[in-house]
Amino acid sequence: MCKWEVTKGASAWSHVSCLSVLLLLLLCSALPVACHDGHGTLRSPRGASSSSSVVVGRHVRSYSHLTGDVRKRKLFSYQKFFLRIDQNGTVNGTKSKDDPFSILEIKSVDVGIVAIKGLDSNYYLAINKKGVVYGAKEFGTDCKLIERIEENRYNTYASAEWRNKKKPMFVGLNNSGKTVRAKKTRRKNTTTHFLPIPIP
Ligand SMILES: *[C@@H]1O[C@H](CO)[C@@H](O)[C@H](O)[C@H]1NC(C)=O
Ligand SMILES: *[C@@H]1O[C@H](CO)[C@@H](O)[C@H](O)[C@H]1NC(C)=O
Ligand SMILES: *[C@@H]1O[C@H](CO)[C@@H](O)[C@H](O)[C@H]1NC(C)=O
Ligand SMILES: *[C@@H]1O[C@H](CO)[C@@H](O)[C@H](O)[C@H]1NC(C)=O
Repeated sequence: MCKWEVTKGASAWSHVSCLSVLLLLLLCSALPVACHDGHGTLRSPRGASSSSSVVVGRHVRSYSHLTGDVRKRKLFSYQKFFLRIDQNGTVNGTKSKDDPFSILEIKSVDVGIVAIKGLDSNYYLAINKKGVVYGAKEFGTDCKLIERIEENRYNTYASAEWRNKKKPMFVGLNNSGKTVRAKKTRRKNTTTHFLPIPIP
């Protein structure tokens, strides 16, 4: 149960106890950007595994932002919808486990910033200046999303470009699986919370 924390190049940590792992996770809650690679590396209790993360000092890092590593994931919302981006560029949620439009490619484009693309539709998850969440045919500034792990271990995705009265604007799905106007979103609100689920 605890050996998932042992990663390549982590010899100093190869005998970590469960307690150390817990402490590390607590540390990571305080330092989310430094610790979290954004795609589930620290989420191994839910089934992820990582080959590209190393322990540097006390920080767990991933080199994915250097390699342009692309990860296939589903984004499972707190309200239990899989985020989907379909061939018309529609972004919404589905309860179906088999919706091909819910398979996404998450790519690091800068430190802490990702691009999320529907694998089948080729549309990017985007937020425009007005806070509309949509599917963008071409990659652009609307598609740059700040990925951050929140206290409850869910991720949020905020526009890296646009803010609303200096507040971040997040991707969100409401209780009906509809996108929420990003201007109305809050970091603390679970409508903006997603778990990246690795696809086997
Ligand atoms: C896209 O929109 C067209 C016309 O509204 C519709 O017929 C089609 O089913 C939609 N495709 C998807 C994948 O939602
Ligand atoms: C979700 O959003 C849609 C569109 O804005 C709205 O019509 C619906 O009432 C919302 N559902 C809930 C449960 O908030
Ligand atoms: C999501 O959008 C698709 C295509 O427009 C639609 O068929 C589906 O009912 C929508 N799902 C929800 C939960 O709104
Ligand atoms: C979260 O956002 C939804 C939709 O905007 C809203 O109905 C709900 O009251 C918010 N919940 C909290 C705890 O702020």
